Amino acid sequence: MDVIVERDEAACGRVVADVFDRAVRSGATTLGLATGSSPLSVYRELIRRHREEGLSFAAVRAFLLDEYVGLPVGHPQSYAQVIRTEFADHVDLGGVFGPDGGSSDLSSAAAAYDALVVSSGPVDVQLLGIGANGHIGFNEPGSPLDSRTRVTTLTSQTRQDNARFFAGVDEVPHRVITQGLGTISSARHLVLIATGERKAAAIAAALGGPVTPECPASVLQLHPRVTVVVDEGAAVGLDRIGV
Ligand code: F6R
Repeated sequence: MDVIVERDEAACGRVVADVFDRAVRSGATTLGLATGSSPLSVYRELIRRHREEGLSFAAVRAFLLDEYVGLPVGHPQSYAQVIRTEFADHVDLGGVFGPDGGSSDLSSAAAAYDALVVSSGPVDVQLLGIGANGHIGFNEPGSPLDSRTRVTTLTSQTRQDNARFFAGVDEVPHRVITQGLGTISSARHLVLIATGERKAAAIAAALGGPVTPECPASVLQLHPRVTVVVDEGAAVGLDRIGV
C-alpha cells in the first residue's frame, strides 16, 4: 500500500488526479467515482486538465459507488446528479452509471448494478472517500468484507454527517444502494483520499488496525494495489501505528 501525505486538500487532489491522468492516458476505460466532499479537489483538477491539457475521458465509462434511495430523479443531492454537477458535465466522459435508487424493486436494481459493474470491469481505478466511522461506499460498520451491491441502511452518524448537504438531517434518506466491499475490491487499483482531522481515527484504523467488518475500509489491507492520499490533518494518527 502506498500512503502519501500532502500539505493540504488541493495538493491531495493533484496527486490523485495524477493517478487518474496517467491511467486514462495509458488506456484505462473504466473508472470508479465517489461523491461527497472528499473527491471535489480531484474533480476540479481533472476538469482543469481536460480544459487546459487535453485530458480526454471520451473512451471512459464511469461507475458510481452508491446512491440514495427515494430521491426524485434530478434531486440536487442524488449522487447521479452530484456527479454531473461536480464532474461529468464539465468533461467528455463516454458514460456514467450508478445504482437506481428510484427503482420499485431495489434488490433487483442492486443486483443488476452489481452485474453491470462486473461485466464492464474490472474497474481500472476506483476513487474512494472514507466516512468518519470507517465506511467506504456506504458500507457501514458490520458490512461483510465480501459483500456485493445491495440495499442498506445508513447509521445515524452518517446521516448526521451528510445533513450538511440537505436542508436538515430529517431530509437525509435512511436507505441507500451501495457497491459492496467485495464489489469495490474487484477494482484493479483503489485510491482513497481523506482530508481533515475528523478522518484521522478512521484512517488509522483502516490502515493499521485489524481487518474487520467493524472498520469497512480495513478491507483495503487485503487488496494488492492501494494508494491512500491524505493531508496532514487526516494523517495525525499514522505515526503512532508506524504507517
Ligand atoms: C460517497 C461515498 C462515501 C463518502 C464518505 C465520505 O459516494 O461513497 O463513502 O466517500 O461518506 O464523505 P465526505 O467526502 O463527504 O466526507
